Amino acid sequence: MISFENERFHLRNDFFSYVMEIARGKYLLHRYWGRPLKEFRDSAPLQRVDRAFSGQLADFENERTYSLDVLPQEYPVRGRTDYRIPAYAVELENGTNISELNYVSYKIFDIKPTLKGLPASFGDSQTLEIELQDACGNFKVFLSYTVFADSPILARSVKFINTSSKKIKICNAASAAIDFPDNDFDIINLYGGHAAERTIQRRKVSRGIFEISSTRGASSHQHSPFIALARPTADEFQGEVYAASLIYSGSFAIKVEAEQFGTTRFVIGLNPDVFSWTLEPGEEFQTPEVALNFSAHGLNSLSQGYHKFYREHLMRGKFKDKIRPILVNNWEATYFDFNEEKILALADCAKDMGLELLVLDDGWFVNTAKLAHGLNGLADEVHKRGLKFGLWVEPEMTNFDSELYRAHPDWILHVPDYKPSFGRHQLVLDLSRADVCDYILNAMRKVFSCAQIDYIKWDMNRHMTEAFSAKLPPARQMETQHRYMLGLYAIMEKLTAEFPDILFESCSGGGGRFDAGILYYMPQTWTSDNTDAICRLSIQTGTGLAFPIISQGAHVSVTPNHQVGRVTPMQMRTFVAMAGTFGYELDITKMSDVEKADVKIYVELYKEIRPTIQLGKFTRLLTGGNEYAWQFADGKRVVVMYFKILAQPAEPIRILRLAELDADKLYTLKKYLPPKKLGVDGGEQKIFFEEKSFYGDELMYSGIAVEKIETDFAAYMWVFEVQ
Ligand code: DGJ
Repeated sequence: MISFENERFHLRNDFFSYVMEIARGKYLLHRYWGRPLKEFRDSAPLQRVDRAFSGQLADFENERTYSLDVLPQEYPVRGRTDYRIPAYAVELENGTNISELNYVSYKIFDIKPTLKGLPASFGDSQTLEIELQDACGNFKVFLSYTVFADSPILARSVKFINTSSKKIKICNAASAAIDFPDNDFDIINLYGGHAAERTIQRRKVSRGIFEISSTRGASSHQHSPFIALARPTADEFQGEVYAASLIYSGSFAIKVEAEQFGTTRFVIGLNPDVFSWTLEPGEEFQTPEVALNFSAHGLNSLSQGYHKFYREHLMRGKFKDKIRPILVNNWEATYFDFNEEKILALADCAKDMGLELLVLDDGWFVNTAKLAHGLNGLADEVHKRGLKFGLWVEPEMTNFDSELYRAHPDWILHVPDYKPSFGRHQLVLDLSRADVCDYILNAMRKVFSCAQIDYIKWDMNRHMTEAFSAKLPPARQMETQHRYMLGLYAIMEKLTAEFPDILFESCSGGGGRFDAGILYYMPQTWTSDNTDAICRLSIQTGTGLAFPIISQGAHVSVTPNHQVGRVTPMQMRTFVAMAGTFGYELDITKMSDVEKADVKIYVELYKEIRPTIQLGKFTRLLTGGNEYAWQFADGKRVVVMYFKILAQPAEPIRILRLAELDADKLYTLKKYLPPKKLGVDGGEQKIFFEEKSFYGDELMYSGIAVEKIETDFAAYMWVFEVQ
């Protein structure tokens, strides 16, 4: 998959080609990324144009057409004739951050090297490592590129080594930079806030620099470490899209520059505003990995590429490709107002409805009297009812009024002399310190073994402020945030290895740390604290752009909804939640008998279709506005969901054209669930069986017509079996 000929590296599989070139024996230039090419023979050679104010390096003083400012580069620096956004900056002892990277050599590995202390992709692949050296010999940079035969993902990362006899300071170290020869792109990114995560934004690339980033010490609700550059005509089903998703859970920055000559550069990696790293002679620094993705066939194929890659080459543990239990979580059911009796009442009801896992959320540790027989007693009782038992923890935080803080006031992130800031009355423990990490590890070991615990929800409810560590010297304070992430990853690595039978779900006030880095340790994440089905349509659509369905926690909650006060029918709430790792988060004991009977039907239905939903191929048939349609398909079954938010007068009949079926196979409609009218939600749910078979071509090209039912918040489902 990797060749080197005529000074060019050609990385190629069935999905893409990626070409780099060594120019003038030392400059590593980017030449091509896109559809796979048989060979790269340079049909569009780099134009040599004399550009005013684009300077020349000393070796080319008399060659006014040779400037790094106009050449497409692989890992650019600022200050050596290139004025565009740089990929890195290394400050030397003399105070300069000017350097020049020259090509030295390359190696190809058939086994992917691991990234020390960081989450990274794995599996059958080939890795190209290119060694570059600073022209004055101060440091080396190793660029790593991994190609997987079965995936459109190109995994990149970078390693720095200090080869000088003095300290050097890395002030910026992106995981990847890409130069495109044009700027005919739309930027697609995922922005949001708490309870409004990963909203899709699409806008034209325009001259200047566009940045999305986090300085919060978490990938954040506000911006996801993901970006796509799509051709303006690209849509869900066609057109070229390039994307990058950072395999990292801390502060990050992504910048896209459309510069003076109409080219585009994007750079993705650690956020240089809150990062630097000092290397002693001989020491090395590893950046996080980034998953670059190319789709020649639109956004659905881009997402499918990420879903498959993360499931097969990033997620680990015994649950990664196991269907996930249907849970009931007591958070929105009781908040902090619970006791053993209430929890067991939920468990009884859950058992009766066919649910499989009971999760005890926040508050259990505050007042142990809440649980008359302790955690162990509760877990036993839950197990006796045939359910699994899950527990919420928030190991990264403490409070001012705690024994831990009184004993170790230096164990929190804080700047001496300044009072620490609070978030939800909490202080952030300093995970950049080994002693703090050891404390958390041992505390969690105790909790995880104090009862039979089958599931852990790992929460983190505030972002970092005063990212200063009492343990680090002044010159290393800007390392605190990244060291925290390394500490967190080390803890997660150990705990997930020591407790392989626990299913871990990560959470940060909902989806504040929903990123590929966390997926390496925990195969599912609570998508958002917003459980309103209508808001979830957009949140889950945005999340699914980059992350697999099986990784998205989604629960049915009560109406009026606790976040937005909206009243929606049970079927709408249920189907939206079914498009993920499904569960309930309301006081199920208070449901009417009719609702309970409906839930039983839905739960039975979900159990049947969940392999297809969680492990099948996901396609967005319709996205946004008033309507969404989602398709899940595997070799056995096709599940189609259609959602219409508001009923509209005089609307055309909606035809849904299914996607990527086998034209020659018959698909038998086994189940059809139309919406019930709002206001008659109490009426018994019926699943209509209308056994009709259609060839795949008809379903794809003629489509299915959505029955017109005048009601707001309408949710439909069709289940086809493949013959
Ligand atoms: C935030 C989570 O997202 C919620 O589900 C819940 O666990 C609360 N924290 C508990 O404090």
